This record gives sequence, C-alpha cells and structure tokens, in this order.
Amino acid sequence: MNESLPRYRAAIIGLGAIAQGYGSPECAAPYCHAGGLLHCDRFDFAAAADPFPAAREGFREKWGAVFPDTTLFENLEAMLASERFDVVAVCVRGPHHFEVMKRVLRARPRLVFLEKPPTCSLAEMDELLALAREVGAAITVSYSRHWSPRVLWMERLVQDGLIGRVQSVIGYCDGAILSYASHTTDLVCQFATATNQNSRALRVRARGFVPPDDPRSQNIEAGFEIEPRLEHLSIEFSDGVLGVHVGSHGDAGSFYADVFGERGRARVGMYIEPQAWDLEGKPVEIRGFCELEDKGPFTQAYRQIAVFLDGGAKPDCSDEAFVHINEIGFGAIESVLDGGKVVELPNQNRTRRIWANG
Ligand SMILES: NC(=O)c1ccc[n+]([C@@H]2O[C@H](COP(=O)([O-])OP(=O)(O)OC[C@H]3O[C@@H](n4cnc5c(N)ncnc54)[C@H](O)[C@@H]3O)[C@@H](O)[C@H]2O)c1
Repeated sequence: MNESLPRYRAAIIGLGAIAQGYGSPECAAPYCHAGGLLHCDRFDFAAAADPFPAAREGFREKWGAVFPDTTLFENLEAMLASERFDVVAVCVRGPHHFEVMKRVLRARPRLVFLEKPPTCSLAEMDELLALAREVGAAITVSYSRHWSPRVLWMERLVQDGLIGRVQSVIGYCDGAILSYASHTTDLVCQFATATNQNSRALRVRARGFVPPDDPRSQNIEAGFEIEPRLEHLSIEFSDGVLGVHVGSHGDAGSFYADVFGERGRARVGMYIEPQAWDLEGKPVEIRGFCELEDKGPFTQAYRQIAVFLDGGAKPDCSDEAFVHINEIGFGAIESVLDGGKVVELPNQNRTRRIWANG
C-alpha cells in the first residue's frame, strides 16, 4: 500500500460483468472496475449496490478476500445515504444509466465513472451535465480501452512527433454504434486529435443497419428505438483531419486503428503490439514499449481519477471529451437512419431515444 498519498472512498453500482466479472484478484490485468481499484491502490472500495442477491454473493466469493471491508447493499439509495463517496462507478446497463446517474449526482460525489454508452439520448446527456455542473461533479465515461497502457503509450509517442502531424485515422470495429463500436470511435478521436488537442469533429456521415433480432433489444421499452449497427462512419475534424471508422474487416480484428501522419504511420490498439513505419515503409522503433507495465486499462483509469482527486488534471474521457464521442455516435445514428446524410455536430435532434443496452 502506498502510504504517502491520500486514499479515496469509492463505490460501485451494479455488480455485473464489467464491475467485477471480467477478471479476478489473481489476474495481472483484470478488465473490470474491482480489478482497477485493487491494482491502482489509491482507493478504499467502501461499498457496492446491486438488487440481485446472486451478484452480491458472486462478488463476495471472488473478491471478498481482497476487499473484506466493502459493504454490500441491496438498495442503491441506502448505499448513497451511508456516506459521501469521492468516486462512484455506475455499472448498470445503458437504459438504467439516466435514472441511476441522477440519484448518484444528487449524492454529490466528486467524480462519477460512468460505463459506456453514457446515455440513451442527447437530451439525457444534456440534463446529466447540467446536474453535474450544479453539484460540482465530473463525469468520466468508461470508453475503457482508451486507458490500455499500450494505447496511452502510443498516444504519447504520436504527440511527441513519432509520425509527424496526424492527417487521417482508420479505426476498425463494427457492432452497435453506442454500446460497442464507440470504443473505437473514441480511439479514432484519441489519435485524430493527438497532435492538435483543439481539433473537434464538425460533421459525420455513416452507413449501417437496424438488426431485426438483436437479443439485447428483446425487452425494449416503449419510446425507444433499436440501436443500429455500424458499417462505416466518416468524421471530419475542424483542422482537416479525416477519421474513418470501418467494420472489423482489417487484418487485426477489432478495437485498433491505423494512424497516418506526415512522416509515417502507426498501428495501435489494446490487443495488438504497437507498430510504426516511416514513409518508406521501414519499421520505426517504439521506444520503451518492452518495459511497459500492464495492469489493465481500469488501473490506468483509476490512477488518472486519483490524480484528479489530488487536485490534478481531469481524467481522459471526462465531460466535454465524452460529449464529443457521444455526439459523434448519435450523429452516426441520425445518418444511418436517414439514408447516409451528412450530419452537422452538435446534433440538432436531441430527443431520439435509443435502446443502448450494452
Ligand atoms: N467498458 C467495457 O468494455 C464494457 C464491457 C461490458 C459492459 N460494459 C458496460 O457496463 C454496463 C453494465 O454491463 P454488464 O455487462 O456489466 O451488465 P450486467 O448485466 O452483467 O450487470 C449489471 C448489473 O447491474 C445490476 N443493476 C441493475 N439495476 C440496478 C440498480 N438500480 N442499482 C444497482 N444495480 C443494478 C444488475 O442486477 C446486474 O448485476 C453497460 O453500460 C455496458 O455497456 C462496458
């Protein structure tokens, strides 16, 4: 335990797959919030809430030995009333985010770490941001692959000029636009803006389809539309950079990107070794990669959250940064549902409700 740095009080709402299911205390790089809290070692995991008894029991069985002091609640209100947390992670499914987030924000944590997809409509996002401003809380959205150590490492190298000024980025990933493909939309933006942090997406154009039999849409409620799947998306940035997001037809699966710069190109993603080439196609050395410690993206994300709570910079994917990704996602949906028209950002239509059940 790091005794020289302050520790913060953390809570998790929803004890399913992403909260504690993907990984275990024994994993070197668990892909879940509990694992991130454990390895980051700046938080006391004070409490968690889930109405489902099997979820609480499953957590106790797997994580009880490393988190013996975590109080488990059936009821989220009871948990929020028990103390004021520094950070609350919201890990329920997308259609529950809005109601749960309103309750969490009213309890005034300093930061809410919200699982993607943040909201089912842009109107919900606007309302949550207004409430967060009122209570003085930051919202960080878990486009979690963003914090993969190898992705952050390559981002730093590209910022430092590895391939010169970025000109275009191609990201690879298909699937539900907000619930799944958004990880790669975020990756495209992470690298499209790496050499110009002030650049912003101006307009998008997309093609996709509405799946007829999506199991995640079976219990869709009245007033919601089924979440479309992505075939391709182009994003025009204010400095002329072009982001293209295609399906998983590249040669390295999903969740990676090719980044083209004035002096070469780079390939980056959570599941691939970072690579770079100069303009002649000769490999460029990726400095420091072999010494990189990898305890998973959630450890890195919680480290950034701890730095923010110490008084430092906001974590990546917070507030205006996640708004950027969510506007692109909803713009892509507008475009898909309107025959591939160009959609200017920010979106005019803020009331379309998508059953984003990822
Ligand atoms: N970042 C990633 O890579 C990633 C991966 C998987 C899922 N997710 C996201 O995480 C979220 C949860 O997905 P999941 O697959 O873990 O779902 P899940 O169904 O496995 O778990 C959700 C849990 O929330 C609980 N819950 C529901 N309503 C609640 C409430 N009001 N209060 C407290 N608990 C409540 C349920 O009982 C369940 O245990 C979704 O937004 C999903 O998109 C992110």
